[in-house]
Amino acid sequence: MMQHSVPDRPVAGDWLALREPADAAAREHSLPLIDRLVRHWEERPPAGVPGSSAAEPVVVVDLGAGTGANRAWLARHLPGPQRWILLDHDRELLDQAVAAARAEGADVVPVLAGVEELGRVLSEHPAARRLVTCSALLDLLTRQQIRELARVLAEEGVPALFALTVDGEVLLDPPHHLDPSVLGAFEDHQHRGELAGTDAVRLAAEALREHGTAVDVTPTPWWIADQAWARPLLERFLADRADAAVEHRPDLTAEAHAWLRTRLVDCARGRLRATVGHADLLGLPPVG
Ligand SMILES: C[S@@+](CC[C@H](N)C(=O)[O-])C[C@H]1O[C@@H](n2cnc3c(N)ncnc32)[C@H](O)[C@@H]1O
Repeated sequence: MMQHSVPDRPVAGDWLALREPADAAAREHSLPLIDRLVRHWEERPPAGVPGSSAAEPVVVVDLGAGTGANRAWLARHLPGPQRWILLDHDRELLDQAVAAARAEGADVVPVLAGVEELGRVLSEHPAARRLVTCSALLDLLTRQQIRELARVLAEEGVPALFALTVDGEVLLDPPHHLDPSVLGAFEDHQHRGELAGTDAVRLAAEALREHGTAVDVTPTPWWIADQAWARPLLERFLADRADAAVEHRPDLTAEAHAWLRTRLVDCARGRLRATVGHADLLGLPPVG
């Protein structure tokens, strides 16, 4: 079996379930990017792949597929038949994504691998129309992995739709005097080592443009207020921020715990609102 990178910090499946309704609402803002992608396909008749035709399935590679939320949302916004290549380095999450997709009758191919396998995956799945997508992944990659993705996409001439990458903006209303220190430590944690963190969209846009790709970026913030799904998402969001802040800055332990206690009370009283900045990026390869 192929060696693959193993997650050193597995993402919790229940966190992915909690964020799904906020993600779906946020992605309504980037529907124009999907319109642009569809126009791009329409304006370029299938060519270059022997025997290919517009009736063939679009091949969509979903990097960091997790439990399959990106496919679940995006499939209904893309035209025609689709074959989804779900790639993740976490076997447990990938199994859930594949089971859910197959239960819906979707055409899916699981790939247990790291993102560095994209070149191989694309070479194994030639098609007239392809897309490489991801959601909530880019910030977890290293700068080098992002540069490499851009290179492979340009080499293969494949469009990219990178959804829901955090951009670092977190506004809590009402504010608390410890927000800047706890949220700042969380942000530093996201940039540990070589991780792109909240620079990811800028880095991806730069790397893609260097290869002649046309890049569009649209803000897709979460607005968390009084929706039915808001409270459990917000509670988990706050707890995860406090944990990561303490891991990164153990000297902040007392402050982070005090902050979390206060913020959870705010939540329970229904008086906390949050804006969490994200962005979606569409990259279209040059014609020719
Ligand atoms: C925050 S989750 C997002 C999952 C899903 N796309 C969604 O929107 O719900 C990030 C996913 O990327 C996967 N992942 C992170 N780094 C990866 C890498 N280098 N190669 C492959 N998968 C990776 C994780 O296992 C996880 O499933």
